[in-house]
Amino acid sequence: MNFHNVLYSTANGIATVTVNRPDKLNALNMATIDEIGKAMDAAMADPAVGGVILTGAGPKAFVAGADISEFLSYTVEQAVALSKQGHDVFTAIERAPKPVVAAINGFALGGGLELAMGCHLRIAASNAKFGQPEVNLGLIPGYGGTQRLVRLIGRSKATELLMTADMIGAEDALRLGLVNEVVPQEELMASCQAMLAKIMNKSPNAIAEIIRCVNANYEGNGMQTEIERFAACFGTDDFKEGVTAFLEKRKAAFTRS
Ligand code: COA
Repeated sequence: MNFHNVLYSTANGIATVTVNRPDKLNALNMATIDEIGKAMDAAMADPAVGGVILTGAGPKAFVAGADISEFLSYTVEQAVALSKQGHDVFTAIERAPKPVVAAINGFALGGGLELAMGCHLRIAASNAKFGQPEVNLGLIPGYGGTQRLVRLIGRSKATELLMTADMIGAEDALRLGLVNEVVPQEELMASCQAMLAKIMNKSPNAIAEIIRCVNANYEGNGMQTEIERFAACFGTDDFKEGVTAFLEKRKAAFTRS
C-alpha cells in the first residue's frame, strides 16, 4: 500500500495503520485523513484481515490534533468540507464490520482524541494524554468530539473537558471509561494484538453484528436493530458452526469470508 502520511502493514490477520508524521506529532491534515480512510478500506476489503490497530508513529504522540497550520487558509464554506471529511472517515471507522482498536501511544488531542473515539476500543500507554483543546483556538471539535465524548464518558465530565480544554492522563481516562485498558508503553502493541486475537477467535459475523447494534444505540433504533440482527444470525454458517461445536463439545472453527 503506497501512502505518504500513513504506514500500512498486515501480520497474523491484523492490519496496522500508523499515522506517520512524527515531526508534527502526527497532526491530521486533509491528505492524512484521506489516507486513513483508504487504509481502512483496504483492511475491510482484505479477507485475510480480521481486525485493525490504529496508532501514531514515534513515542510521543498518537495524534496531536487536526493540523493547525492548515486552518487559517479556510473559509467558512471550506471548513464545512474539512469537518465533513473527518466525520465521514471517522464514522466509517465506527461502522467498520471488523474490530478497530486505537493504540494510544502518547498525545491524543483534538482530532486525535476524536479519531481514537471513532475506534471500537481504546488501549492507552501509561504516558498517553487526552484532551479537546479547541476552545483555546476559538474553535470547537469538528470531527465528532462534542458527540462521542458525551457518549463515552457522560455529559458532566465531557462538558467540563470540552469547556476547560484540560488535558487528562491515562489513569484518569481509564477511570472515566474513555479507554479500555492502560499498559506500559512497551507493551502497547502486544496488548492491542492480544485483544484483537481474542475477538478474532469469535464469530466474525457476530462481531460485525455487535458493532452494528452498539452503533444503533446512538441512532435511536437500537432495540429493533438487535431483534433483526439476532434473527439474521440464525441464517449464518457461523451460527451453525458455533452451536454445533458447543453441542459436540469442541471448539468452534469460524471462517472469515
Ligand atoms: N497541528 C500542527 N502542528 C502541530 C500540532 C497540530 N495540532 N501539534 C503539534 N504540532 C507540531 C508543532 O508545531 C511542532 O512543529 P515544529 O517543530 O515545526 O515547530 C511539532 O509538532 C512538535 O510540537 P511541539 O509543540 O514542539 O511539542 P511539545 O512537546 O512542546 O508540545 C503539545 C506538545 C501536544 C502540547 C503541543 O504540540 C500542542 O499543544 N499541540 C497542539 C494541540 C492542539 O491544540 N490540538 C488540537 C487542534 S484542533
